[in-house]
Amino acid sequence: MLDIKKKKINNRPIGVFDSGVGGLSIFVELKKLLPHENFVFFADQKNVPYGEKSKKELVGFMYKVVDYLKDKHDIKMFVIACNTATCFTIKGLRARYAMPMVGTEPAVKPASQGTKTGTIAIISTPATSKSKTVKKLINDYGNGITVLNIGCKNLENTVEKGNLENPEVNKLLRKYLKEVKNSNTDQLVLGCTHYPFLKIAIEKILGPSVKLVDSGQAIARHTRSLLQTHKILSKGKGTTAYFTTGSAKKFSKVASELLKHKIKANKIKL
Ligand code: DGL
Repeated sequence: MLDIKKKKINNRPIGVFDSGVGGLSIFVELKKLLPHENFVFFADQKNVPYGEKSKKELVGFMYKVVDYLKDKHDIKMFVIACNTATCFTIKGLRARYAMPMVGTEPAVKPASQGTKTGTIAIISTPATSKSKTVKKLINDYGNGITVLNIGCKNLENTVEKGNLENPEVNKLLRKYLKEVKNSNTDQLVLGCTHYPFLKIAIEKILGPSVKLVDSGQAIARHTRSLLQTHKILSKGKGTTAYFTTGSAKKFSKVASELLKHKIKANKIKL
């Protein structure tokens, strides 16, 4: 009896959240490391970009999202695959909900440990770049090194549109990476989960001497370790359901392009 009950609990899904398709860059790493977990991927595309919202707005969005995932999908854990939402809401979410939670923060620590030139750069949304979280990360790990902190308005929106070959992407990247290119930065922190999808375009601009550092694998490892600690690892089939508050058709099209396999999302009204 106990075993059956335990198994049932283990197979409940993990909620993975982003404002849009960017969180898929974290999701692919979760999927690789945890193939037996069932996932519900949720994108709040009605409200994207989060990077231009206030803390008050973000907290309101996130309460609605977690309530929905908890009540309708009975999630056992919540992964915030969004730096902006993590920076401004994770404290409040942890206080409000009892379930284990994983947040995504710009990977300043490994970048600062890996730099040989003594200069690193962080690119993120305007909100993240101005957040207390990033200031604290720079304070904690930026000692004795130069840290360029660059807020990139609109960059996530180019990924939302899906066409990564678009000249607009290159134009924006050149603008935001100008300072990086003119410095001796050797580690670039991708502080928004949309940006790993721009890796090839970024590498073309900065060349091979700059290492691009994202949080995907670390988030996946942390998620696995929390599942182990709470003894809630799944032995399930590894299913994924996708939901968006925006257009299901648009999400499905862009997500299918980014992940290179067919994805079908459902629209949800919160
Ligand atoms: N992908 C999100 C992040 O990591 C934010 C994108 C947005 O501005 O909505 O910060």
